[in-house]
Amino acid sequence: QGHQGGAGSGRHAASATDGAAAPTTHARLLAWVAETAELTQPDSVYWVDGSEAEYTRLTDELVEAGTLVRLNPDTFPNSFAAFSDPKDVARVEEQTFICSEDEREAGFTNNWMDPAEMKGKLRTLFNGSMRGRTMYVIPFVMGHLDAEDPKFGVEITDSAYVVASMRIMARIGTDVLNRMTELDADFVPALHSLGAPLAEGEADVPWPCNDNKWIVHFPEERSIWSFGSGYGGNALLGKKCYSLRIASVMARDEGWLAEHMLILKLTSPQDKSYYLSAAFPSACGKTNLALLDPTIEGWKVETLGDDITWMRFGKEGELRAVNPEAGLFGVAPGTGWGTNPNAMRAIAKGNSIFTNVALTDDGGVWWEGMTEETPTHLTDWQGNEWTPESGQPAAHPNSRFCTPIDQIDMLAEEYYRPDGVELSAILFGGRRKTTVPLVTQSRDWANGIFMGSTLSSETTAAAAGEVGLVRRDPMAMLPFIGYDAGDYLRHWITLSSKGDQARLPKIFLVNWFRRTADGGFAWPGFGDNARVLKWVIERIEGTADAIETPIGFVPTPDALDLTGLDMTPAEVEAAVHVDSAEWAAELKGIEEWYDRFGESLPEELRGQLTELKERFQFS
Ligand code: GTP
Ligand code: MN
Ligand code: MN
Repeated sequence: QGHQGGAGSGRHAASATDGAAAPTTHARLLAWVAETAELTQPDSVYWVDGSEAEYTRLTDELVEAGTLVRLNPDTFPNSFAAFSDPKDVARVEEQTFICSEDEREAGFTNNWMDPAEMKGKLRTLFNGSMRGRTMYVIPFVMGHLDAEDPKFGVEITDSAYVVASMRIMARIGTDVLNRMTELDADFVPALHSLGAPLAEGEADVPWPCNDNKWIVHFPEERSIWSFGSGYGGNALLGKKCYSLRIASVMARDEGWLAEHMLILKLTSPQDKSYYLSAAFPSACGKTNLALLDPTIEGWKVETLGDDITWMRFGKEGELRAVNPEAGLFGVAPGTGWGTNPNAMRAIAKGNSIFTNVALTDDGGVWWEGMTEETPTHLTDWQGNEWTPESGQPAAHPNSRFCTPIDQIDMLAEEYYRPDGVELSAILFGGRRKTTVPLVTQSRDWANGIFMGSTLSSETTAAAAGEVGLVRRDPMAMLPFIGYDAGDYLRHWITLSSKGDQARLPKIFLVNWFRRTADGGFAWPGFGDNARVLKWVIERIEGTADAIETPIGFVPTPDALDLTGLDMTPAEVEAAVHVDSAEWAAELKGIEEWYDRFGESLPEELRGQLTELKERFQFS
């Protein structure tokens, strides 16, 4: 029996549909909330208003429950640390599904199951899954509330940690709900449960979750069901699930692009500004590049976003980019005063939630790479005593900081523009020890899409599974493309044919992670990446030198500004070198990768591969 009215519809559903309790008249939303309460049977239903007072109340409760540890207010004001179950520390790609009506639509890069069958499975799992808990209803918008076509969502969750984190990561609460109601707007229903119901009188654990995890997307219905995990990428459903997987499907249908990219603003000593976006796989340097502190005189970097970019063509055929998020959910290890002072300054302002970092003895947090000196004593992320002799990292390699984006001093004012900024360049990059030069300019746009489509990286701790294997990761979107990967590449090609060709951004491939024979990094990276950005801009302006190689244009050793950098020309040459033998092996890898697409690989890209082989004279 369906639930539409309040009276007689059972204790839990009643509170959700009771006109006095529900702060909206949005009929489809009320119906979904009632239906979900009936299915999951929470103790109570709570509509999140997004206020400061609410945040304080929720975090107080989480401290009381032991989920959050309040940090020292002198050093980390209004900030908390959470420690997850050791089995719930990353995105679970094996358990992530795209349940399109037709299996072909999900493509070979996604797990698929028949949607009706999956719904049945999920209904069983969610049946009573919120017993003993509060069901929170979080209205949110990805992108700007006053965007031309605001993208609404509502997350239902039984985790207060998710509510607190969503408040940092997205625009949530009363204003959003009111606007949604006023427009009677469609929204993405995003249902999340920890899958840890509490029996009458049962004590809770600090990090409830379930060993059985399911992260499921229904692209036609534009809905999300996430079960069993409390970890950010699996549970903060506005982020990867909505803004990449579901949004990529919306983008295909509506003629735009949802991408795993940062956005930054670069201003030259001549005071000319450029906007760049960059797609790197998880834990490969987006947040670091977005918050770059340039080591070269006169160049200024400001940030607009560090993880997700929505792009569409403007009225003049220019490609415009916006960041749909409101916070940073950054990899903590390696983020330090030396490598990323802008992130550190934002974090130091407080209002942050840290997950799986280590605790210092004075109530602060620490992770590998945060400070030059390692503390002599810590409590590690699993609650154990830790000393430098412990032989294990104190913070989990995928530990994260979650911080409001407006705490970044170098946030560009254009971040607040609903229509975004025009891009001059797109960078694709991955983590490769060999083969891929520090920077390569594509021959043209189509060749740039080829670079993106064959992007590869060694696996990291950001997803569960073995670390260090080379995997192809098209546009750094492998875990996030919500439909067939070949169709996704075709969408890039056909969509861009509609823009002003002369104004298309220039595409570059970068690799900060190449190694030398002795195992060290071939390039210092971090702030010195500004030198590469400078070359990129000078290429756009036609003022920098390059050598044409079969894969594209790489800098001549003296084209990179190396002022103040202790690198010999031979070392620079090693960083940008294109090695035929390495590329012979690489092309085999690309060929195998392309074969996996079968029929769905766009002809243009097959053609690019053939031409590349010809340029190497391998064929
Ligand atoms: P997600 O947020 O998971 O999508 O990852 P991300 O792309 O934002 O990665 P992030 O910037 O957090 O970088 C992760 C790791 O890369 C950290 O361990 C950094 O120390 C390392 N890293 C980032 N930039 C550089 C660089 O220029 N050189 C080197 N050697 N390491 C870098
Ligand atoms: Mn990411
Ligand atoms: Mn990041």
